[in-house]
Amino acid sequence: MSTVRWGILSTARHGEKTMLPAFRQARETEVVAIASRDVERARAYAQQHGIPVSYGSYEALLDDPNIDAIYIPLPNNMHKEWAIKAAQAGKHVLCEKPIALNATEAEEMVAAFAEAGRVLAETFQWRHHPQAHAVRELIEDGTIGEVRFIDAGFSFLIAREDDIRLDPALGGGSLYDVGCYPVSLARFMVQDEPLAVTAQAHWTERGVDDRMAATLEFPNGVLAHINCGFSLPLRRYYEVVGSLGSLYVNRAYNPIGDRSSEIVRYGDDRMMIETVQLEPANSYTLMVEDFNRAVTGEAPPRFPAEDAVKNMRVIDALYRSAREGGTVEVAR
Ligand SMILES: NC(=O)c1ccc[n+]([C@@H]2O[C@H](COP(=O)([O-])OP(=O)(O)OC[C@H]3O[C@@H](n4cnc5c(N)ncnc54)[C@H](OP(=O)(O)O)[C@@H]3O)[C@@H](O)[C@H]2O)c1
Repeated sequence: MSTVRWGILSTARHGEKTMLPAFRQARETEVVAIASRDVERARAYAQQHGIPVSYGSYEALLDDPNIDAIYIPLPNNMHKEWAIKAAQAGKHVLCEKPIALNATEAEEMVAAFAEAGRVLAETFQWRHHPQAHAVRELIEDGTIGEVRFIDAGFSFLIAREDDIRLDPALGGGSLYDVGCYPVSLARFMVQDEPLAVTAQAHWTERGVDDRMAATLEFPNGVLAHINCGFSLPLRRYYEVVGSLGSLYVNRAYNPIGDRSSEIVRYGDDRMMIETVQLEPANSYTLMVEDFNRAVTGEAPPRFPAEDAVKNMRVIDALYRSAREGGTVEVAR
């Protein structure tokens, strides 16, 4: 495989703290440029992190012919615009979650990338960690019987008043920010799409949901309860409950390889049957390597961009239910 040359759109905290180390660890990967709205910020970032080229505008980075792939950690309301501009500039895009603000935007993005013949993927890193696949195998092996219920939550306490997550104009909201994970988790574990959802939220004065609780109804009677928030302490768990027992994962969505992962299996009397230990692995690095393989044509992306459209359809229905009340059918 030849080296994939990456450019990063913005000096976002997540890109700096988590993705840069992941890019460094990933095989056949080089970060060649950084862009910021502020040329000095871009220059300082490039210098600090040993990135060869810096740009004072996102457009300039897209025009760089020495870049194959763009990583987009912009505020959520900017994902669609910049991903489509990147596709039109002939670049592949790994876009932060949620891929867009709604399913219609996500569909436009998928169409633009199909037309440009470029790869688009959403950063649900947890799906690239062996932990997620080990849970699926335990389910398929029948260890917990027939899957009937999923309980999944992701929350943390927001630290900064000026955080983009609190700004409705920038695509703020806890369902967009962390609730999108339990949604993707439930869909992945059931391997199907929910038919309908019911949600309730607590809203900030500025009008973003700072916590939400919801039920997803899947075909075959599977129910998923999901909860999320940034006005709640750190929790990032899920439990898949079957007719004979359950599988519990405490650190579900952002394993970065600093410790081993653990899946706990309970029997039908809530006695622990086994603890499955997995070697440490950086889910972000694995995600970058998966994307690289798609760029070089070695293998299709493990999760096609159409999956992001399906996730956004559920998010659309959840927001509608939380705002208007009642059960809302998920678009097909
Ligand atoms: N996958 C994960 O584990 C994970 C974790 C955290 C966040 N994320 C995602 O990453 C994205 C960024 O989150 P973050 O917490 O890293 O955000 P952040 O630190 O606030 O960074 C956002 C960046 O966007 C640029 N930007 C452009 N227009 C802006 C505007 N009007 N207001 C504020 N910033 C603007 C800024 O960079 P310049 O000034 O340099 O242009 C800013 O540094 C979000 O989509 C979020 O959902 C993913």
